[in-house]
This record gives sequence, structure tokens and C-alpha cells, in this order.
Amino acid sequence: MSEELRLREGGGLKPALEEYLGDWSVRTGIAVETWALPDAPLPCAVVRGVCAVVTEALTNVERHSGARHVAIAVTVGDTGLRMTVSDEGVGFSEGTTGRGLAAMKASFVEIGGTLSINSVLGSGTTLSGVVPKRALRGA
Ligand SMILES: Nc1ncnc2c1ncn2[C@@H]1O[C@H](COP(=O)(O)OP(=O)(O)OP(=O)(O)O)[C@@H](O)[C@H]1O
Ligand SMILES: [Mg+2]
Repeated sequence: MSEELRLREGGGLKPALEEYLGDWSVRTGIAVETWALPDAPLPCAVVRGVCAVVTEALTNVERHSGARHVAIAVTVGDTGLRMTVSDEGVGFSEGTTGRGLAAMKASFVEIGGTLSINSVLGSGTTLSGVVPKRALRGA
């Protein structure tokens, strides 16, 4: 079976991402450090949105970054959901735009959150997404 994300009914974010990240790492040869994935039940739309952003982010890591490692953390706490995807690759300059970068930001807006993308040439790229607690109701 391909590395395509399988969002089985009731499967949740953690098992879906664990499987995806494992398959992706084997295929690309890029090591994934998973710091945290949440057990908490989340609204379907949030699971889909976060998965869409992680897959797009990792596609960029594979295609553009040259990094050998990528670190991922998704946590759910008192303030809401936080997602970080960070690579230590080539980075890109301020003002860079693209369909993928815009789509990732739009995905977070769609689920009631925000995504910031920070990149430093020669140092790497970090995506930081937040979905406030009030947008996580209805799980
Ligand atoms: N993790 C990354 N490391 C280095 N450069 C990156 C990274 N992510 C994005 N970039 C740079 O930002 C540009 C825009 O990214 P974006 O995802 O919007 O477009 P793309 O990947 O080129 O094409 P697509 O529309 O298929 O996603 C890329 O072309 C690349 O130069
Ligand atoms: Mg892209």
C-alpha cells in the first residue's frame, strides 16, 4: 500500500500520521524525529487539515530542502493544538511564494487556526501552526 494517508473512520491523527511518517521516511531516506503526536480526539476537519499540511510540508522537505532529518511535533494542550515541522535544510528567502505555501496557510485558516512559515537561507525551515482550543470543540 502506498504512503497515502489513510484516515480510517475513528482512526485519529496519531495512527494516521505515524503510519504516513514511517512510510515516507523509508521511501525518502530522510529521518523523521517525531517529538509528539496527540492521543486526544479531534474534529475530523482538524485531523484532515493537519494531515494535509504535514504531507505538503514533507513534500517540500523532500523536493527542496536537502535535509537529512525533519522534526515533527503535534500537541494538544490547554491553549489548543500546536504543530511544528522543522528541517535543517537549505531554507529559502523571505518573500518566496508558491501554491504549496499558500495552501498550507489556507488549510490552517480553514480549521480556525493560523500557520507561520519561517525560513532562513542556509539554516532551514520551520512551520508553526496553532489552532485555538475553541476551534477544537465538537470532537
Ligand atoms: N522546506 C523547504 N526547504 C527549502 N525550500 C523550500 C522549502 N519549502 C518550500 N521551499 C521553497 O519555497 C518554494 C515555494 O514552495 P511551494 O510549496 O509553495 O511550491 P513548490 O513546492 O515549488 O510547488 P508546489 O506548488 O507543487 O508545492 C519552493 O519552490 C522552494 O523554493
Ligand atoms: Mg510545495
